[in-house]
Amino acid sequence: MQITKTVDETRAVVKEWKRQGLTVGLVPTMGFLHEGHASLIERCRQENDRVVVSVFVNPTQFGPNEDLEAYPRDFARDSALCQEKGADLIFHPEPEDMYDDPRAYVSIEGLSDNLCGKSRPIHFRGVCTVVSKLFHIVAPDRAYFGEKDAQQLAIIRKMVKDLNFDLKIVGCPIVREADGLAKSSRNTYLSPAEREAALCLSRSIRRGKEVIGMGMDSQTLLKEMRAVIEAEPLARIDYVSVVDALTMEDVSSINRDVLVAMAVYIGKTRLIDNFSYEI
Ligand code: PAJ
Repeated sequence: MQITKTVDETRAVVKEWKRQGLTVGLVPTMGFLHEGHASLIERCRQENDRVVVSVFVNPTQFGPNEDLEAYPRDFARDSALCQEKGADLIFHPEPEDMYDDPRAYVSIEGLSDNLCGKSRPIHFRGVCTVVSKLFHIVAPDRAYFGEKDAQQLAIIRKMVKDLNFDLKIVGCPIVREADGLAKSSRNTYLSPAEREAALCLSRSIRRGKEVIGMGMDSQTLLKEMRAVIEAEPLARIDYVSVVDALTMEDVSSINRDVLVAMAVYIGKTRLIDNFSYEI
C-alpha cells in the first residue's frame, strides 16, 4: 500500500494505473476510521482494480465554532485499517497541499438549505469543494459514500449529475454498533452516560420505521419520533424532519420517496441518524 501527500504524487500513481487499463475506486474520509468506513473500503475493493482512500480533515466544511481542532485523528491506526482492508493507496494531504488561498468553491442550491445545512451554513459548500477536488485529483471510476450522511450523499449525487463528473456514486448502508448507535468518529466525544443517552437516536429511528407505513402524515410521524428523544434528559433536538428524498425539502404527506433524518445534541456532541422510506 502506498501513501501520498501531494496532489502531483497522487496523480502520477493514478495515471500509471489508468495507463494499464485498471479501474479506480475512491473512498473519501476524514480519518479516525471505524467499521462504517471499513464497509465502504470493502465494497470499493470488490468493485475496482485499485482502491484509493483519502484521509483529510477538510477545514472548509467546518464552521468557525465547530470541532475542526478537536476532530479525532490517528493516522497510524487508519493506515493499518486501510492496509488490512486491501487499499492500494492512501491520499493523506496537509491542508496547505489542498488549499492555497482559494477563491473557487463548489456549492449547490436548495439541497443544502434544509436539515444539516440549516445549522451548518457553509458545511456543504466545503464538502462539495473538497469532493470535487478529490474527483479531479484521483479521477475515480466509482466513489463510495455512506447513507449515514444521507443529505451529503444526495448533494453529491446531484453535483455529479449537474456538473457531469464522469464517475458512478455508490451509496452504502449505515453500519451500527450492536446496540443500534450509528458508528461515527464523533462517538469518541461521548462520556459513558452520554453514550447511553445517544441510543435515543436509533430508538427514535426504530419507532419511525415501525409507524411510517401506517398512513400517517409527517407531523404525526415526527411527533412520535420526537417523543422518544425528548424522554432523554441529555438530548437536545437540532432537527427531526421528513424530506423529499431528492430535493431535501420538507414534505407534509408521505406520498413519495422520503428521507427521515435527525440531528441531536447529546451534551455538546451533535449526532445524526436517518432512514429512507420508499413508497
Ligand atoms: P467522514 O465523516 O469521515 O465519512 C466518510 C464516509 O464514511 C462518508 O461517506 C460517510 O457517510 C461514511 N460513514 C461514516 N459513518 C458511517 C456509518 N456508520 N455507516 C456507513 N457509512 C458511514 O463524510 C465525510 O467524512 C466528509 O464529509 C467527506 C465526504 C470525506 C468530505 O470531507
